[in-house]
Amino acid sequence: MKPNHTINAAITCMGGFVPEYRLTNQELEGYVQTSDEWIRTRTGIGERRILKDETKATSDLAIAAINEILRKKNLDPKEIDCVICSTMTPDMQLTVTGAYIAWKIGADNAWGYDFTAACCGFIYGLTTAATYIESGRFKKIIVVGVDNMSRFVDYTDRNTCILFGDGGAAALVEPCDDTSLGVLDSVFHSNGFGRQLMNQKAGGSLKPASHATVDAREHYAFMDGKAVFKYAVEGMASSSLEVMKKNNLTVNDIAWIVPHQANLRIIEVVAKEVGVPMEKVMLNIEKFGNTIAATIPLCLWEYEPRLKKGDYIILVSFGGGFTWGATLLKWGYDGSDFIGK
Ligand code: UT7
Repeated sequence: MKPNHTINAAITCMGGFVPEYRLTNQELEGYVQTSDEWIRTRTGIGERRILKDETKATSDLAIAAINEILRKKNLDPKEIDCVICSTMTPDMQLTVTGAYIAWKIGADNAWGYDFTAACCGFIYGLTTAATYIESGRFKKIIVVGVDNMSRFVDYTDRNTCILFGDGGAAALVEPCDDTSLGVLDSVFHSNGFGRQLMNQKAGGSLKPASHATVDAREHYAFMDGKAVFKYAVEGMASSSLEVMKKNNLTVNDIAWIVPHQANLRIIEVVAKEVGVPMEKVMLNIEKFGNTIAATIPLCLWEYEPRLKKGDYIILVSFGGGFTWGATLLKWGYDGSDFIGK
């Protein structure tokens, strides 16, 4: 349901980047007791991309993704007003990766900051950007969903190491003259109860780093996957249905659902509960795994050539915190415009 304003915000271009190295299920069989068959049937993941270069980090993934937008749109970075970096894995603590990215890409007139909402980072960040644009105060905002999760994964823990990969993808968000198009609505929720089920135990203000925390391997990702699974299905299905109902749409109106890519089984159950056939569900989990804030924009980036002006698209996610929700878009351009650019 759109608030009463005259300017709409729309995504006008996507850019994306994944590092070259492919970590296969077969390679993981050498690290932990697992199998290609178990990983494929329980998660749908075949391989993930890993940033091997230790001199590089989250900002490098983001910059590569944003540079694609600058190229495709022939955009002078000085025109960018704001860079929102949605990530759980900033380059460093106590500094702002979004500010660093803005500086590195030459967005000298932009303010950059980080947005922390785990797997919902991109959709929360996109809605924030859309609201800034709708206010009339800003014209060009980059939202980049990016995570370098491999740096926080314990490759001796089979519960988590099979799941995550690295990547980043960015959207340019601009005002749109046609107020029927763009970012139309969002329904978002959170519940801090979820913190106990997904976290990194040490390295925050609650438990700063010490020899003991390092010895206990508390600087790696922890997840009670079985418990999270149930909440993820319920949260993603209910928020997809909620955003459709609120906007008087049925599944027949929806061209695409873009679910967070944590587990193919979660995605299949959500699609079934929402009533959307799998042909309308964007997927990249088989080749990229769970890239946290990057899963949804990486899907949009890869499917961009197939998107048509006027397509209704639901972006839906569930992640740490817990955070969950759905955003409704009416796509603003024919994605084929960018083919070959
Ligand atoms: O992005 C944020 C949101 N994240 C999610 O939504 C993730 C949600 N959770 C999941 O995707 C799944 O719960 C997992 C993929 C993490 C785990 O799958 P599962 O079907 O829930 O497995 P499970 O944890 O119930 O474990 C089943 C069995 C256990 O063995 P026993 O106890 O039955 O003997 C595990 O020890 O599978 C075992 N297992 C494995 N076996 C081979 C757990 N991990 C592995 C593994 N390889 N990598």
